[in-house]
Amino acid sequence: MGFIHITDPHFVPAPELLYGMSPAARLSAGVQLINEAHADADFLLVTGDLAHYGEQAAYETLRDSLAPLEVPVHLMMGNHDSRAPFRAVFPDTPEIEGGFFQFALECDDLRILCLDSLNDVPGDHIGRLCETRLRWLDEQIALTPDDKRLIVANHHPAFDLGMPKLDEIKLADSDALWEVLERRKPDMFVFGHVHRPISGVWRGIPFHTVRGFNHQVALQLSDDPVVMLTDENPDIALIRPATDSIVVFTRSVGGEIRTYESGEENMQNPLLENGRLFA
Ligand SMILES: [Fe+2]
Ligand SMILES: [Fe+2]
Repeated sequence: MGFIHITDPHFVPAPELLYGMSPAARLSAGVQLINEAHADADFLLVTGDLAHYGEQAAYETLRDSLAPLEVPVHLMMGNHDSRAPFRAVFPDTPEIEGGFFQFALECDDLRILCLDSLNDVPGDHIGRLCETRLRWLDEQIALTPDDKRLIVANHHPAFDLGMPKLDEIKLADSDALWEVLERRKPDMFVFGHVHRPISGVWRGIPFHTVRGFNHQVALQLSDDPVVMLTDENPDIALIRPATDSIVVFTRSVGGEIRTYESGEENMQNPLLENGRLFA
């Protein structure tokens, strides 16, 4: 019931590391958590930046890391990805005219339209949605029954977040996207790219994103010259339809140290000295 959203695993070929971390080891921990606790989810959706440099060997490592996953997985493009090497490793990913990886998913009464905002100019990290990709979106929205709730998933946010360095590389075609979306506003917008847990509302559409699976971007709200990264545990988000709502549960992979019963407020925590979490 519901589906799981993760983002930005930034794979490099095993056993290489990225920023001193193993994307494969981190994703494997996520796969284990999903298998143990959320194997009833309809699928896992990964909103892009699957590989850091976009080489085929990185996608092969990603494929191997996903192999133990007990739910289906759907992979989207991000600005760090490269379509031809990805296609060689994941040949079953649906493509539209022009070779863009866009597809529609169904989950209970949710319909999720997944976009491919990878820029065709190599090395340009700004997101693009050309006429072909937006026409597909328009057609798919028209095909979505009124009694289905609509989620649009894309790698790049379509609007400024107030994080200047990331706002520079958001989706460039947000006005054209909005022209399509305002005909039927989605119930939710899901994206990746910013490697931080963020939720809010854009033009009346609720949005959410989660931490990157390998590295995280520090919460930088000023226009510093360099993007700063930070070490945090990755998230998985479980997106579930409820009676008259869509609920997003976010949980940390590896950050949940212990689970214990409520009600015994005076119990000792064996992991914390004098109950202090921070020194
Ligand atoms: Fe990323
Ligand atoms: Fe990105």
